Amino acid sequence: MRRKTKLIHGGVPGDPHTGAVSVPIYQVSTYKQEGVGGHKGFEYSRTGNPTRHALEELIKDLEEGYAGFAFASGMAAITAVMMLFNSGDHVILTDDVYGGTYRVMTKVLNRLGIEPTFVDTSDLSNIEKHIRPNTKALYIETPTNPLLKITDIQAASAIAKKHGLLTIVDNTFSTPYWQTPIALGADIVVHSATKYLGGHSDVVAGLAVVNSEELAERLHFLQNSTGGILGPQDSWLLMRGIKTLGVRMEEHEENTRKIVEFLASHPAVQNVYYPGLESHPNYEIAKKQMRGFGGMVSFDVGSAEKAERVLNRVRYFTLAESLGAVESLISLPAKMTHASIPKERREQLGITDGLIRVSVGLEDVEDLIEDLAQALHG
Ligand SMILES: Cc1ncc(COP(=O)(O)O)c(C=O)c1O
Repeated sequence: MRRKTKLIHGGVPGDPHTGAVSVPIYQVSTYKQEGVGGHKGFEYSRTGNPTRHALEELIKDLEEGYAGFAFASGMAAITAVMMLFNSGDHVILTDDVYGGTYRVMTKVLNRLGIEPTFVDTSDLSNIEKHIRPNTKALYIETPTNPLLKITDIQAASAIAKKHGLLTIVDNTFSTPYWQTPIALGADIVVHSATKYLGGHSDVVAGLAVVNSEELAERLHFLQNSTGGILGPQDSWLLMRGIKTLGVRMEEHEENTRKIVEFLASHPAVQNVYYPGLESHPNYEIAKKQMRGFGGMVSFDVGSAEKAERVLNRVRYFTLAESLGAVESLISLPAKMTHASIPKERREQLGITDGLIRVSVGLEDVEDLIEDLAQALHG
């Protein structure tokens, strides 16, 4: 099956009982047993629900893994995956991971004895340098948020494998349409499905996919034990969103390419961060591991005042957190998505006060460019 076909025919094909072409919403908590233990595969909806199961099968197929799991948010998925580790374990993470991932590692999981070290994983030598006897995992976000740095997934997971570490990749920005980390050697993929997979700014959800039976058993145990599952309505919404992922991602990419060209030649813009730019330091790796460069672009206008003026002037870019939806969104990472990262650390990472992040939507690109032009003028 090719990629757009798999989005529509992957997972569970409709409803065998009625012929309905969409999997029904099984709004149910428990299931009748024909005798003790005599159930039809479902006992209680925290443990398993047919609508959630269909979504889990679909994401498993798309990410080319062994099993998929759906959670109430991206953070619930990431937290459940981190629960695979024990007190005393050490995890190496990409330095500019999503602010919420940084927060859960440094304010929650560290209290339980899971110790994080944040390094620039786009430079592979940093990974090996920080491996210790108790290191258990390498957690990569690529491209990163908001600086769009790229880590070589194949090379990084080879290093991890050599040292017996699990490789976990946050694939939120690319989605399996553009990038399949398990095929490149990763063990686990996580998603904020709230973003491109849902695609319409109407559902908060998280997904995880593992590459082996052993990890599937352990993660299902954690999903069922900690209980942060996705409900059937949201599972259904997500499946509906995923059917159009291919056409949306192609169009996001096309619009973004034109906006990047415009920004790169604009005198008020100092730096443009986009992995599809040949001047991007990781362009060759991006080209090798991604089938498309995505719809996220960040650019620096030099100061917080200038950035806020742009944000106040735009008409078609909604000032909001989140990304990956049909409507274009604009944000100021230093004051919004990354405000939970201390200022000194933000500055070290290059998340300046003048950095603007754009999630390019599916509007007519001419309108988006005219809008940015008037907002940047003068
Ligand atoms: C890259 C990335 N990972 C994880 C998350 C967390 O996902 P959620 O907001 O669905 O909990 C986000 C949210 O913005 C994100 O951008």
